Amino acid sequence: MSQIPGGHLYSREKIDEVVASTDLVALIRQYVDLKRVGSSYKALCPFHAEKTPSFMVTPEKGVYHCFGCGAGGNAITFLMAASSMNFREALQELARRAGVNLPESKEYRNYTGPLVSKTTLLEVMKKACDYFQANLFEQGSSAARDYLKKRGLAADLARSYGVGVSLEGWDYLHNYLKKVGYSDEVQKQAGLIRARRNDDKNGYYDVFRNRLMIPICDPEGRPVALAGRTLETDPAPETAKYINSPATDIYKKGHMLYGFHQAKSYMKAAGMVFLVEGYFDLLSLVQHGVKNVVASMGTALTQNQINILRNQTKEVYLLFDGDSAGQTAASRALPALLTAELDGKVITLPKDHDPDTFILEYGDEGLFTAAENAVDILDYCADRLVSENGTTLAGQARAVREAKEMLARVPDAAKGQLLQRKLAEKLGLDPAVLTLGRTPEITSPVTVETRPRMPVSYEAGVMSLLNHVIIHSELVAKLDTLEDIWPQDASRSVFNQLLQQYRTHGQIEPEKIYFEESDELASLVSGAILTARAYSAEKAAVVFQELTDALRYKAAKTQRARLTEAISQAEQSGDRELMRKLAEEKMAQPHPMLMKYKPQ
Ligand code: UTP
Ligand code: MN
Repeated sequence: MSQIPGGHLYSREKIDEVVASTDLVALIRQYVDLKRVGSSYKALCPFHAEKTPSFMVTPEKGVYHCFGCGAGGNAITFLMAASSMNFREALQELARRAGVNLPESKEYRNYTGPLVSKTTLLEVMKKACDYFQANLFEQGSSAARDYLKKRGLAADLARSYGVGVSLEGWDYLHNYLKKVGYSDEVQKQAGLIRARRNDDKNGYYDVFRNRLMIPICDPEGRPVALAGRTLETDPAPETAKYINSPATDIYKKGHMLYGFHQAKSYMKAAGMVFLVEGYFDLLSLVQHGVKNVVASMGTALTQNQINILRNQTKEVYLLFDGDSAGQTAASRALPALLTAELDGKVITLPKDHDPDTFILEYGDEGLFTAAENAVDILDYCADRLVSENGTTLAGQARAVREAKEMLARVPDAAKGQLLQRKLAEKLGLDPAVLTLGRTPEITSPVTVETRPRMPVSYEAGVMSLLNHVIIHSELVAKLDTLEDIWPQDASRSVFNQLLQQYRTHGQIEPEKIYFEESDELASLVSGAILTARAYSAEKAAVVFQELTDALRYKAAKTQRARLTEAISQAEQSGDRELMRKLAEEKMAQPHPMLMKYKPQ
């Protein structure tokens, strides 16, 4: 498989050529009014509402980046975001404009499958959802129906949200869809089946098996993706709680809110919406009659998701888990909300509750009481800044720096002043102390890199590591040691591209990294390209070490869980020889807890 998006269609050299032949400034000028500042250009950001320009284009590096909303990337991601194109469409359009001949690579010429249209993908998704839903009320699915009942969800609710079930077996859906006329290629491109052993010659299997199926719909109510929750009562440690559809031509991750089309009229009427993280949080609220609710689907909230709520409602009530991850998620949402000009409120749940368990215990009355006591997000973030950093001198200094970073992201001057006063008051400082950096000098954007405080969340750690390597490019030589332990998520493609660049050229060219989506990864890279080195090589190496220790720890833990599971399977099947071998392998590895990095 190729490591760059569309790479099986076009060679890397061709993609580089198209990008090099594109006049980035001329391209972006078609969308916004660019003003020259030194060797860069600035403008009001086309991706969020702002009154002072924080969007900048640096042609010599081939990137654009918004210091307000964080959007960023290269010519391809710009066209993807500005014109809602996928990678291939954007590349073809740029090639056409630049007059570059874009032949398909040899592999692609051998590709015999048809190119599947969006209409067909929508159709097959609908068929799959209907099929799963029909299953739920069939004889063999009493376990799934019992499960819903146990979670307090009525059959009617399940019906109206199109909830279904995938059966235990490898090809129920595949066979059904074939029978009703959808080719393997269509099913594969919809993310419903997967090739066995990564090779289309060996047949396919269903992606979703023995799971409760939850359709994710676009604003028109058409299913574009699916999430499958495990129905196993005692799942193995490596069993994912949810399996989610991959990004497809009809589904962009981070661009959707679960339940939006059903919630829309209710949030308009109420002037406010509850924003939760999980599918079950949402379903549970709706079951209790709270219909103005949408779910972010777990991952970090994106600007795109918040923008969906613009013009639909005035206030967003963040209703996250009571634990510290939930609290962090709440404060991260601040810039996105301000950017979209929405008011935010934070509801703090008791520590051991999530919205689902909370409403089950306290009912809708309990939820509305909690909502009445919600804290304005500006106050919430200001308080957290203080409580997180402490009152020591170093803590105060950190708080001041974070406060400035926060202020720099507030697009609205009046709100910015309000927040500035609030922050200063909480920190016990003169507001003027926080004035600096309100309007950052866009010609030399030096983001002060904060030293990652360990332990960071795993995902944040991986992102931080990428950021760090791009800023301190001498670290790239060390990436070699991470090939086996780098996670197989979206960041893997960026990692692979960096590694490949290093192996071929002995150095990295971050401006030549390509992305599947114009999302946080693209922004992270463009931001890193424009960020000045923050500290010495020596200190950078120490930070790198800390971050990779966390990665190694996580990989060791996963590997150990895998071995434990394999041993118990060998035990069940009575294979003593295999058991002994696996046990030896397990013994030979140090326990993750003995590793240098220890999570708290
Ligand atoms: P939760 O673990 O809180 O899930 O993750 P939940 O929906 O409340 O499910 P229950 O109550 O445990 O049954 C919140 C959201 O994070 C995403 C899903 O969108 C989920 O609803 N998530 C979580 C995944 O995509 N994959 C996972 O493995 C876990
Ligand atoms: Mn839950």
